[in-house]
Amino acid sequence: MRRQEATIPGKRNLKNDAATAFEPELKSLAELNRIIQASEPLVPGADHAVLGEGPVGAGIAFVGEQPGDQEDLQGRPFVGPAGQLLDGVLEKVGIDRSDVYVTNAVKHFKFERRGKRRIHQKPTTGEVKRYRWWLMKELEFVRPQIVVALGATATLALAGEALSISQNRGETMFGEFPGFITVHPSFLLRVPDEDAKAREYEAFVADMKKVRKLAKAQKRAA
Ligand code: URA
Repeated sequence: MRRQEATIPGKRNLKNDAATAFEPELKSLAELNRIIQASEPLVPGADHAVLGEGPVGAGIAFVGEQPGDQEDLQGRPFVGPAGQLLDGVLEKVGIDRSDVYVTNAVKHFKFERRGKRRIHQKPTTGEVKRYRWWLMKELEFVRPQIVVALGATATLALAGEALSISQNRGETMFGEFPGFITVHPSFLLRVPDEDAKAREYEAFVADMKKVRKLAKAQKRAA
């Protein structure tokens, strides 16, 4: 697997420079999750992590950008508007959400406070890369048949480099993992033109059908 920044953010340590980086021997996802929960956020915003959710050994792992407001409040990934859209599409193509693993590239909600509102802020490339060790370790424990990058931030985290979604949409490899690149469901919510929105929605549904088939084919081959 392409390795990069084989580091883990030090507990209660925001610097995470070479001197403080270390690579612990982790035996389970639960152990990794305990470290993530005990660590300081690496982005300004929420102070607690939203962990990945789903069974170890799930055939498909979905990776999003970061928890949003609702995810942070409920402590679960993809439960807000984008998550509801994703759930609807998964149901439509016959993927049971309880069978898949869902996580984020960045484990904390990065936001800026404006009055009572918490406004989502996109993580920088540096922030995404600093979270990357956790994500790759998480996937090593889950061992999915296919890893789906939802949007540009997840693609950056999984590929280790910024890639255009439109030019790279579809099957790929993320290190040792068969992968798939597609848009983030929140993109579909933001398309202003109704016809374009419907087209984008259908393209996303078509992607999810391909993902389901690829996961099945990988399972048969295993
Ligand atoms: N968007 C994401 O990328 N992840 C979530 O968990 C929710 C919204």
